Amino acid sequence: MITLLLFPLFTSLASAIWPIPTSYTHGETVLWISKDTSFDWAGAGDVGTLKVQPNYDLDFRTNSNAYATTQYEGDRTRLKRYSEAPTGDEMIDQAIYSAKQTLFKKNFVPWKFHPRNWTEPSTENRTYISNVRVEVLQDDPGDIAKPLAGTVDESYALELSEGGNVSITANSSLGIVRGLVTFTQLFYKHSDGGAYTPLAPVIIFDIPVFQHRGINLDVSRNYFSVKDIERTIDAVAYNKMNRFHLHITDAQSWPLEIPALPELSAKGAYRPDLVYTTDDFANLQYYASIQGVELITEIDMPGHTSSIALSHPELIAAYNIQPDWDTYCAEPPCGTLKLNSTKVEDFLKKLFDDLLPRILPFSSYFHTGGDEVNKNSYLKDDTVNSNDSTILQPFMQKFIDRNHDQIRAAGLTPVVWEEMLLDWNLTLGSDVIVQSWQSDEAVAQIVAKGHKALVGNYKYWYLDCGKGQWLNFDPSVSAQYYPYEDYCAPFHNWRLAYSYDPLGGVPADAQHLVIGGEAHMWAEQTDPTNVDRMIWPRGSAVAEILWSGAKDSMGRNRSQIDAAPRLSEMRERLVARGIGAEPIQMPYCTMEGTVCQLGYQP
Ligand SMILES: *[C@@H]1O[C@H](CO)[C@@H](O)[C@H](O)[C@H]1NC(C)=O
Ligand SMILES: *[C@@H]1O[C@H](CO)[C@@H](O)[C@H](O)[C@H]1NC(C)=O
Ligand SMILES: *[C@@H]1O[C@H](CO)[C@@H](O)[C@H](O)[C@H]1NC(C)=O
Ligand SMILES: *[C@@H]1O[C@H](CO)[C@@H](O)[C@H](O)[C@H]1NC(C)=O
Ligand SMILES: *[C@@H]1O[C@H](CO)[C@@H](O)[C@H](O)[C@H]1NC(C)=O
Ligand SMILES: *[C@@H]1O[C@H](CO)[C@@H](O)[C@H](O)[C@H]1NC(C)=O
Ligand SMILES: *[C@@H]1O[C@H](CO)[C@@H](O)[C@H](O)[C@H]1NC(C)=O
Ligand SMILES: *[C@@H]1O[C@H](CO)[C@@H](O)[C@H](O)[C@H]1NC(C)=O
Repeated sequence: MITLLLFPLFTSLASAIWPIPTSYTHGETVLWISKDTSFDWAGAGDVGTLKVQPNYDLDFRTNSNAYATTQYEGDRTRLKRYSEAPTGDEMIDQAIYSAKQTLFKKNFVPWKFHPRNWTEPSTENRTYISNVRVEVLQDDPGDIAKPLAGTVDESYALELSEGGNVSITANSSLGIVRGLVTFTQLFYKHSDGGAYTPLAPVIIFDIPVFQHRGINLDVSRNYFSVKDIERTIDAVAYNKMNRFHLHITDAQSWPLEIPALPELSAKGAYRPDLVYTTDDFANLQYYASIQGVELITEIDMPGHTSSIALSHPELIAAYNIQPDWDTYCAEPPCGTLKLNSTKVEDFLKKLFDDLLPRILPFSSYFHTGGDEVNKNSYLKDDTVNSNDSTILQPFMQKFIDRNHDQIRAAGLTPVVWEEMLLDWNLTLGSDVIVQSWQSDEAVAQIVAKGHKALVGNYKYWYLDCGKGQWLNFDPSVSAQYYPYEDYCAPFHNWRLAYSYDPLGGVPADAQHLVIGGEAHMWAEQTDPTNVDRMIWPRGSAVAEILWSGAKDSMGRNRSQIDAAPRLSEMRERLVARGIGAEPIQMPYCTMEGTVCQLGYQP
């Protein structure tokens, strides 16, 4: 029998920070912040000699030119952002600007988080925050904008005194960027104008549990404009995620311009104008890195490459086999790079020589995919003519060795999907990060082999699942597929994503090798019209698990009852920032405290 206990006691919901900090105490005093409040900051070694942040015109920068700061404006910026990562100072400058924009232009009135009769704080006799001191306590490492996982301390401490003094300190510029995001989440918009926090005094110390926290967006199955991608990066950063994985090519389209091989996008994109030019690509990488997000580019191979056949048919085996494509690949059009072909090697060398130096300023990683390679496609490969593992495996080893040697020589660290290690039994360098998607057992096997692993089990963190099939079924077989659910149905709601523990299947002595994970947005049925609500706020649920861990400070599974109102509030903040995140509850639930729950454990 289910005992339903209504628990109507109103608990204050207006204390929401997402993801939840490591430690957080707050009071109930109201303080206001003004557009004139000065943000003074000191970079490493400058403590005591605070710079005063210029008082920006908050309309000056738009999302798309956010990096064109007053300080770094003009031609120099343009040249720079194509070839050079932002410095820690530029990241802080941008973060302060962005915090002010959030506070004064992208804030919200929190009526949904108070009972019907709630009145907003009085606007009489306002006490204002006098200043915000931002201090970096140590020198940044040289690669602050593109660190390898675990090499930069993202922790921060935030104190807001009842008298209106604020200090944000961190051991790196990246920590300051995270702390400023938290700072904005303490404030609400007032209906009569202005922004206030009802929470003073505040003391926060915060440090992420996982080093790699990301969203993967597939921009091959559907085309997304640069603006759509930038908006997604904004949301990634606001969730304190630090990785944006761009699955930029696949079987269906090749939208990435490669100057050394211009025919790839000219013929492989859906339309010749639906292309990320080299400038677009550099801008996206810069746009992410200045917000403390490292963009990781994936060119999936040897499978998922059929779009190369549109310009280079000689490189691709089993291209677009119809109608029995499902014998040769996971999704039409089939096609895989030939496995025993010097032409393929020459092509890849040229491709990597062009692309990798353009990635190097902004990232430490390059992802070569390697998922879902169907051995039968090599029956149609005139360079091997076989689907026998014992014949194919040495060629695949050679393929990955060549790729990884070139990636390392270019100064980058390789990332691959789990199949390369677990299905093909390849010997990978100890530096290689292995991204898992199929199961927790796979994560356990990856770390057992000594590799660093990224989690993202499709049963929890695939955001595309549950929309139904995108394939059409002939009437003769249609009944067989009724009611047309996809392979990973049902839809993974936020609670399911939130229930996933990245360390769930991993023995204690190998947990340090799980460096984090990603939620995945495969785009067969997602395009710019629905991408925001497909990713958010479920991506936020994943962000909290990765930042704060799956267990609370008492070692218990995190509670939905605690999370739901905070996630609802995060959703309001995302909406205020122009991201079309879905609601997860009725206002009734967040207005009345804990009435919308089932089951109560005293
Ligand atoms: C709102 O306030 C009025 C007047 O103070 C009171 O009569 C009413 O019961 C309150 N409603 C709620 C939902 O608390
Ligand atoms: C504001 O200050 C005035 C003068 O001290 C006082 O009369 C008034 O009650 C105060 N208002 C509030 C809401 O505290
Ligand atoms: C900075 O580093 C020190 C020394 O390692 C550490 O105690 C502290 O927690 C770190 N974080 C912050 C925000 O100070
Ligand atoms: C608070 O800030 C003001 C203005 O910068 C400064 O004069 C004062 O010393 C600060 N107080 C504390 C306790 O830091
Ligand atoms: C691989 O290619 C070489 C050179 O063309 C050829 O001699 C060899 O037989 C091929 N291997 C297989 C398994 O077909
Ligand atoms: C390999 O190909 C043969 C046909 O040549 C087929 O009968 C067999 O099922 C294939 N093996 C696998 C594992 O699909
Ligand atoms: C990898 O090893 C597993 C287990 O030993 C085996 O089943 C599989 O066929 C191997 N794969 C290849 C490509 O050799
Ligand atoms: C905690 O969550 C895990 C899944 O991550 C689940 O297996 C376990 O049963 C949960 N524990 C409790 C006490 O509910």
